[in-house]
Amino acid sequence: MTYSSHAYDFTDKRAGYEQLAAQLQGLLAGEPDPIANAANTAALIFEVLPEVSWAGFYFLRGGELVVGPFQGKPACVRIALGRGVCGAAAARRETIVVPDVNAFPGHIACDSASQSEVVVPLIAADRLVGVLDLDSTRIARFDEADARGLERLAALFVVASRLGELR
Ligand code: SME
Repeated sequence: MTYSSHAYDFTDKRAGYEQLAAQLQGLLAGEPDPIANAANTAALIFEVLPEVSWAGFYFLRGGELVVGPFQGKPACVRIALGRGVCGAAAARRETIVVPDVNAFPGHIACDSASQSEVVVPLIAADRLVGVLDLDSTRIARFDEADARGLERLAALFVVASRLGELR
């Protein structure tokens, strides 16, 4: 599939994420490789979503989160479960929206310019496989509409990459 950039209007976030989900589904269709799919998912999100300074994956490896494909500045490599926003979302298996990272106890500052963050856990067949993490240099960049939209994109990534079928 060929990627063609087209205009997205995120003034209506629901409609914007609807379009983005359709495009991601096309981008991942027929490709099960998780690294390839994570790379393209991060690239599409970073390309399309406004005011995002980092978008990418951490995968659970040997009991901790290890950075995977992403777009943005080089990032912290390993995050223990329960540490930072990523580790908290992974441990709780819940999406966490952080309007002000400086007010989040234990936030890990990979980029000191980051002001807000959203982290979506990746769950496949009831197992935690990692997280999808987005940062912004704008305070309160992410809201519940972003959380729901990104959960949908994360689910498309998990299904396309057949992560629920891994043993
Ligand atoms: N800020 C994150 C660490 C990952 S980076 O933002 C890419 C955290 O507190 O978990």
